[in-house]
Amino acid sequence: MTVDALHLRRVLSRFPTGVTIVATRHQPDGVCGLTVNAFASVSLEPPLVLVCVDRTSNTHGCIEASGIFTVNVLATGQEHVATAFAQKRDDKFDGLGYELAESGGPVIEGVVAWLGCGVREVIEGCDPTIFLGDVLGCDELEGRPLVFFRSGFTTTVNE
Ligand SMILES: Cc1cc2nc3c(=O)[nH]c(=O)nc-3n(C[C@H](O)[C@H](O)[C@H](O)COP(=O)(O)O)c2cc1C
Repeated sequence: MTVDALHLRRVLSRFPTGVTIVATRHQPDGVCGLTVNAFASVSLEPPLVLVCVDRTSNTHGCIEASGIFTVNVLATGQEHVATAFAQKRDDKFDGLGYELAESGGPVIEGVVAWLGCGVREVIEGCDPTIFLGDVLGCDELEGRPLVFFRSGFTTTVNE
């Protein structure tokens, strides 16, 4: 039995997620990132999270090369950031406030939480690649999280 991909997409869209920007360093001294909702907490001890990044993503190779990434959990009002980082552009960070975490990846201004990670394992048995990361630093900030539900950004989950 095969599952129709479009149908599966609609079914999965009923599962509300947060919206993150997974960001990393781009050699020699740049930064890059993409919008990701395939983010999950794996365990508290050891502190592990995972992100799924498509191999066609420009950010994929940068994560592999740098061995680090930061997960930025977007706030309401940052829909434009989510939209910009979901495009293949090299000016995504232009005009955006950010600092580099001690672990090396960019922490974007205004997010409700961030986690700086070191790549522990790259799981390539499927497409997208699963990057399993050790959480090296993290923080929570003020604000309400942006939600992705039924293929759109929202702040609440209604039918
Ligand atoms: C709400 C939303 C969630 C997304 N989640 C993911 C994801 O989990 N993994 C992924 O590889 N791409 C995801 N994408 C698509 C990427 O953000 C998009 O392909 C982006 O252009 C990749 O940028 P890059 O090639 O510059 O790295 C998502 C897009 C949107 C709008």
